[in-house]
Amino acid sequence: MININGHTSVYGIIGNPISHTMSPAIHNMISEAMGIDSVYVPFVANDDLKSIVKGLYSLGVQGINVTVPYKTGIIYELYGLEPLAMEIGAVNTLKYTEHGYYGYNTDILGLERELKDEKVSLYGRDTVILGAGGAARAVAFLCAAQGAASITIVNRTLNKALDIRADVAAYAGRNGMYALSENVNAVTLKEIGSAVPYGCIAFQCTNVGLAPDDSSCVVHDGSFYKRVAAGIDLIYRPAETMFMKYVKSAGGEAYNGLKMLVYQAVSAYEIWHSVAVPDVVIYDVERSLR
Ligand code: ATR
Repeated sequence: MININGHTSVYGIIGNPISHTMSPAIHNMISEAMGIDSVYVPFVANDDLKSIVKGLYSLGVQGINVTVPYKTGIIYELYGLEPLAMEIGAVNTLKYTEHGYYGYNTDILGLERELKDEKVSLYGRDTVILGAGGAARAVAFLCAAQGAASITIVNRTLNKALDIRADVAAYAGRNGMYALSENVNAVTLKEIGSAVPYGCIAFQCTNVGLAPDDSSCVVHDGSFYKRVAAGIDLIYRPAETMFMKYVKSAGGEAYNGLKMLVYQAVSAYEIWHSVAVPDVVIYDVERSLR
């Protein structure tokens, strides 16, 4: 149990709703394992982000995670933010600095670390993103930043996929990835079978398949799954989603989003505390969540 005293530094998460969050359990477990005198608590937020950020800053709250629905709106209250977080237009981690809070997107760092762990490289690969919400947008930018050969965004509502397509293609062009900037595509779910190249890496970024709807999946088309070499579902509950089952039964590798969840917390923890969280601690956290 954490021993809270007059020196304990305070961290937390803001969002609405917040009752489902696993972040306090993860962060407090890491502090306890590493003997770091800090505590992490949930805060239910409202739309008055200016007052909230001002209040947290005045009280010296050293780090804040931000979750739905404030990952974009919070940007206007920051002193600065990381370039990729700026491109994505979403931050989930704020660090106290003498000038104000600085923003990071550790969701993306978390996914990057999960892919590294699983030895899935996006460089030169055809990538497919199912969904066009906030999570899909961040993943599309990660694919571009990691040098994917193509990105196909597949969504029920085409307009949202087209918006991401435009922003990611522009980002690729600005950063000298001219071939990729010509190869970012947006299609509807109905077109998916033929729109996707063989051997692709697919990210499931919708909330379809989330427990208790374990048997739902956004795509059932077998011709799509034959083209998937590796499938990553951002959902971690259930541990094996319907999407993952389809990928595996067509012969591909499949992973859930549990490591991404743990690594986004670990990355925030490392940014805040300027430490490297040891693998053994990360493994214990992951096991306790499984
Ligand atoms: P997040 O921030 O987690 O990405 P979001 O922004 O609400 O969440 O995005 C949810 C995504 O899941 C969207 O791409 C949504 O599709 P639409 O843009 O067409 O709404 C997708 N989604 C949710 N329910 C769906 C369903 N039943 N069938 C297909 N797609 C669905």
